[in-house]
Amino acid sequence: MERSGLLTGKTGVIFGALNESSIAWAIAQSAYREGAQFALSNAPVAKRLGTLEGLAKQVNSPVIWADATKDQDLLALFHELKEHYGQIDFIVHAIGMGVNVRKRRPYENLNYDWYAKTLDISAISLHRIIKHAMHTEALRSGASILTLSYIGAQRSFSHYSEMGDAKALLESIVRTWGSRLGDQNIRINAISQSPTRTTAGQGISGFDAMFEFGDRMSPLGNADAASCGDYAVTLLSDLTRMVTMQTLYNDGGFSGMGIAHAMVEPMMQILDVKKQ
Ligand SMILES: NC(=O)c1ccc[n+]([C@@H]2O[C@H](COP(=O)([O-])OP(=O)(O)OC[C@H]3O[C@@H](n4cnc5c(N)ncnc54)[C@H](O)[C@@H]3O)[C@@H](O)[C@H]2O)c1
Repeated sequence: MERSGLLTGKTGVIFGALNESSIAWAIAQSAYREGAQFALSNAPVAKRLGTLEGLAKQVNSPVIWADATKDQDLLALFHELKEHYGQIDFIVHAIGMGVNVRKRRPYENLNYDWYAKTLDISAISLHRIIKHAMHTEALRSGASILTLSYIGAQRSFSHYSEMGDAKALLESIVRTWGSRLGDQNIRINAISQSPTRTTAGQGISGFDAMFEFGDRMSPLGNADAASCGDYAVTLLSDLTRMVTMQTLYNDGGFSGMGIAHAMVEPMMQILDVKKQ
């Protein structure tokens, strides 16, 4: 992709890059290419599990370790960001984890402590991040906040389980905060992304089937993380300054489909339906 410089002069923070397959990693690379300067953040446990320091070197970013479910970590993060950049222009929230999903606990028999943790990490963390950003006056007028969702927020996907609830809450937080941020000229949107082979994505049982189904159903095929990075650039740029409170699909057209031709033959074979 050729550089357009859409984010030249903009500063921000990107949460959630764990390793090279992370969607936040691709967003960081696209934002860097377009001229943005930003800090990277992840939970302290990611020091051991991921390779964030490698990305930080590539994109010339400081790393601020913060657990996005902990108020004191986030408060410290925004103070540090302010020292580094003054007020910032964007926040990218690409954080998620389904604890019951990961531990293969079915939706019909959720462990409610884990469920609360899932909602806290995957949705309430967005609320918390914005709250601390506003209290520390970290965001400049014209700033853009972006989070990552999945169509399982709006429709039922059997194996997505508790994460469907988490994403529904996340998208609601986008609207509810959005209505309060407008008078400070701050906007917030969610990108609803295709199934993508990442650590969080592949933690979902049946992920391969969801991936394959999405790919066959979508006129353009599944959208990869790099395309999400490029789409994110537009939402962080001034070109989308009047867009807020939206869930926007980077999904190759999946959300507009009913049945795709590519699914008809295999379905007929599986269901042993005779051609008329
Ligand atoms: N992979 C997919 O198929 C897909 C599709 C649509 C949306 N998404 C969403 O994209 C976002 C990014 O996920 P990904 O797929 O790139 O996977 P990923 O595993 O690379 O990223 C998830 C990130 O969340 C971080 N995280 C977990 N708990 C945290 C905490 N307490 N504090 C701070 N950070 C924490 C992890 O360390 C990790 O970096 C998530 O919101 C995910 O639900 C993913």
